[in-house]
Amino acid sequence: MKKEIRHVIKADQFTKESLEEIFILADDMVANPDKYSESLKKKIVATLFYEPSTRTRLSFETAALQLGAGLISTENAGTASSEVKGETIKDTIEVTAGYADAIVMRHPNVDSAEIAARVSSVPILNAGSGSGEHPTQALLDVYTIKQVKEDLNNLKVAVSGDLKHGRTIHSLIKLLSLYDNTTIYGLSRAFFRLPQKYIDYLIESEAKYIPVSQFEELPNDLDILYHTRTQLERFKNEATGVIDEYIINNDVMKSFSNQTYVMHPLPRVKEISEDFDNDPRAIYIKQAHNGVPIRKALLLKSINHSY
Ligand code: CP
Repeated sequence: MKKEIRHVIKADQFTKESLEEIFILADDMVANPDKYSESLKKKIVATLFYEPSTRTRLSFETAALQLGAGLISTENAGTASSEVKGETIKDTIEVTAGYADAIVMRHPNVDSAEIAARVSSVPILNAGSGSGEHPTQALLDVYTIKQVKEDLNNLKVAVSGDLKHGRTIHSLIKLLSLYDNTTIYGLSRAFFRLPQKYIDYLIESEAKYIPVSQFEELPNDLDILYHTRTQLERFKNEATGVIDEYIINNDVMKSFSNQTYVMHPLPRVKEISEDFDNDPRAIYIKQAHNGVPIRKALLLKSINHSY
């Protein structure tokens, strides 16, 4: 029986089986785009982004348009929606649900998607909730890993950079822990360590978690090196001293196998040197492009439960 999607709030709502269904649908959407070009005809998708975005917003909007849906959107909900006048998430969502068939929302509050889902009469798709989660990114990340590795079991994956505030990492490690014999290496400076609740989640899921502080501590046959930007916007008021970031470049990558793929949710600032972009192991642009088929599958399954 197909797994019905109502809302997309957190990565732990997915199972291996539900991920597989989404990946099969996304593959079919890539192979047969015309078959789906009117699947959401006469439906409307609302995008409410209270924080900046390039990939998530544009790929969701492309996904909706490729499915034949119409779009309504606030130009920049953080400054141009009625939240500025003091409106709550609850009121905004209850009202917007009367205008649209699904709501895609990015908000700085870690509980925003859950608050929205509690009051919404239409599906809520979490497009990033503060430093909490970014589940649709994690789905496209795992879809990308499957394309290069085929088997999602027995993976050795390093997450690196800002593990504390990186919502993409929080969602990704939850999905990877669904598979057998997963080892996650956490490469970070002390201030940016992975919060204990995610380490506990991995342990409970029988995945291994190994914190490290240098590239040299990672195994040469690592499958995926998933790097992230320092999320400066999340800790403006905390004293952190100098931010000494890890930089991935051709030199660093000489230590790893030709099957160690480098991923990044983007945007990057300088933590992956552009000189590495032409290496066949650099798959972050392919990863960003996978946002369209995955978000098409999520929109379709959440709006039309026959998929
Ligand atoms: N990966 C990601 O969430 O990118 P944007 O902030 O550009 O949407």
